[in-house]
Amino acid sequence: MPPYIKDSWNAHLYDQKHHFVSNFGNELIELLSPQNGESILDIGCGTGDLAHAIGKYGAHVIGIDQSANMIKQAKEKYPSLTFEEKDVLDLPYHNEFHAVFSNATLHWVKQPKQALQQMFDSLESGGRLVAEFGGEGNVQLITDELIKQLHAIGVDHPPDEFPWYFPSIGEYTSLMEEVGFHVRFAQHFDRPTPLEGSNGLQNWIKMFAQEILDNIDKDTQKGLIRKIEQQLTEDLYKNGEWVADYKRIRVIGFKEKFKK
Ligand code: BEZ
Repeated sequence: MPPYIKDSWNAHLYDQKHHFVSNFGNELIELLSPQNGESILDIGCGTGDLAHAIGKYGAHVIGIDQSANMIKQAKEKYPSLTFEEKDVLDLPYHNEFHAVFSNATLHWVKQPKQALQQMFDSLESGGRLVAEFGGEGNVQLITDELIKQLHAIGVDHPPDEFPWYFPSIGEYTSLMEEVGFHVRFAQHFDRPTPLEGSNGLQNWIKMFAQEILDNIDKDTQKGLIRKIEQQLTEDLYKNGEWVADYKRIRVIGFKEKFKK
């Protein structure tokens, strides 16, 4: 989850309006193929749904998230599982997991090599990383329009303040190799993602792009979001619902036994 100092995650809104994040994660669990008795670290576990789903295979799961709000809700929902507030850039684990799993989180981490090193170190020899997150071009129609509308009201948003990391497949798999992973699978694909309800786009912006809007007063924010909706209707409003222009990267990398 994002490296903000303050915890801006609203775990209830996340569960109510953004459940698709976990729903899509179930496909990634199939790629993970958890085995009975395996120990698995779920990085960016949110409110715990995927950790719970992985646990059903008989795996021992630890879910971590940087957001205290998310961890609190995960513990309330799944009291028998282990959830801890931790940062992927500062993991205390060494050679202990059969697998590291991460869905829809690593695009918040703007030090990807450091995160990969931490995940690599957490795996036992022979262990695997299975991850999915936003790739190059992800939600670009939305973010380009957001930045355009900010400029229109005189608010500068320099590229280095862009809150996400959306790498190309070549860039990310190269980083994986640099830290020692043997990349066995990598995919970059479009996944148009329906956002629930007629307010889907504004809910998405309020949930995920709040950091960008934080210093703007509420009325101006409302006007800005309305303008973004108008501009994006033609491209993203389809058959009565908003469909976000998601583009995903999926990777599987192994910490090979024969590599150090
Ligand atoms: C994503 O899952 O691709 C995403 C979510 C929130 C903000 C940006 C990207």
